[in-house]
Amino acid sequence: MSLLELDGVKVHFPVKKGILFDRTVGHVYAVDGVSLKVEAGQTYGLVGESGCGKTTLGRGVLRLVDITDGEVVFDGTDLAKLPEEEMRRYRRRLQMVFQDPLGSLNPRQNIESILSEGMAAHGIGKDQDERREKIKEILAKVGLPTNALSRYPHEFSGGQRQRIGIARALVLEPDVIICDEPVSALDVSVQAQVINLLEELQESLGLTYLVIAHDLAVVRHISDVIGVMYLGSLVEEAPSDALYAGPKHPYTKALMSAVPVPDPEVEDRRERILLQGDLPSPANPPAGCRFHTRCPWAQDKCAVERPVLTDVGDGHKVACHFAAEIEAGELELTRPTGIEAVVSTEAVASQEAEVEDAAPEPASKVPAQAPAPKGEDAEHEAPADEDGAPATDGDAAAAESADADADGDPSESGADADAPEPDASAKKAGRTA
Ligand SMILES: Nc1ncnc2c1ncn2[C@@H]1O[C@H](COP(=O)(O)OP(=O)(O)OP(=O)(O)O)[C@@H](O)[C@H]1O
Ligand code: SF4
Ligand SMILES: [Mg+2]
Repeated sequence: MSLLELDGVKVHFPVKKGILFDRTVGHVYAVDGVSLKVEAGQTYGLVGESGCGKTTLGRGVLRLVDITDGEVVFDGTDLAKLPEEEMRRYRRRLQMVFQDPLGSLNPRQNIESILSEGMAAHGIGKDQDERREKIKEILAKVGLPTNALSRYPHEFSGGQRQRIGIARALVLEPDVIICDEPVSALDVSVQAQVINLLEELQESLGLTYLVIAHDLAVVRHISDVIGVMYLGSLVEEAPSDALYAGPKHPYTKALMSAVPVPDPEVEDRRERILLQGDLPSPANPPAGCRFHTRCPWAQDKCAVERPVLTDVGDGHKVACHFAAEIEAGELELTRPTGIEAVVSTEAVASQEAEVEDAAPEPASKVPAQAPAPKGEDAEHEAPADEDGAPATDGDAAAAESADADADGDPSESGADADAPEPDASAKKAGRTA
């Protein structure tokens, strides 16, 4: 049995209306029947564009949102059915690392206080001295100096703060860490360092990860299996290499064609699928295949019959009525508008492999994706000064909104998934372009 198994998980949010009486007038089908397995010691990468339900799924696993239906079986126990008191015990073993490292750390607490409160709540360490020793050990593991203990979140760079977020999860000795967009707020150069750190920690501590990202390039190198999510459900799942070598679902092909290749010549020649339109609203998802309103190969059947995620061999699963025909080149495009050209992802994958083989071994295991924007992370990622001088100027105003997580449970902690993301539309544009 896998360490974590999701079976038919649904999270539907009621849409209420009315001044005097709160009437439920519909539902947001944020997660609508996801089944997946995460093996112990492995990494499952979950990708999909903004609003497809990735965070809601992660929060559903930890019961930070109510699960409408389905099972979340962790180490043989269905968490979906556990009373809240018992669930608290399990939360220590399932931790979450959030996208916004600053927003998820209380600006009024120093690092020792942030890291020890969860330990105290879960009875780890007999006193503060013992907890401090453990925290020092974990800080060293995540590459932060001991003098970080007495400092405050705003004194660190973005990359360092994410290391603190990882340390906060690690001090509770979890089995599973759900990393929700762990690097998307960081500069590209720092992203690679944090991803590599996660990999090293997984090896040394035997951790199991569910890594959520909107960017296939981020999960590629860390994931054993990748699941591609579209509008609340999985459309494709495969071992990482197989997915990159031959994506079968039109949506995955489109996502893949947006991953830049680290060679300008190959990049220039590369063909792309440019999806038209935004993700439809999860409050009113299209009938049939949910991707049919954007799929370049959509047929009549697609608008009425919902395809089921089916294993087409070697653990490669796809939810498309016409995956075989598309792969064989037997299906005509039905939606030429907006498509520059249809990508041959296999060709790109092999060209990419050639480029990687030819290039000298990069310092990081994650390929450069784009020129790193000039930002604080690149400049301040070096460990904090020995004298404890602030590493960055931080953003105290933003930090003000952060909220302490008193029992160390990976609940809101200021990283409020319910709050609208200020740059959601910008991210969406970047993801589908
Ligand atoms: N508490 C809530 N009440 C109602 N709708 C919600 C709630 N939380 C999330 N949603 C909706 O559910 C859908 C999925 O949201 P979610 O945050 O899981 O997406 P995501 O894939 O993580 O996106 P992103 O990449 O932008 O983080 C969105 O349409 C969102 O507006
Ligand atoms: S089922 Fe139809 S609409 Fe859906 S991905 Fe396949 S071809 Fe496209
Ligand atoms: Mg999210």
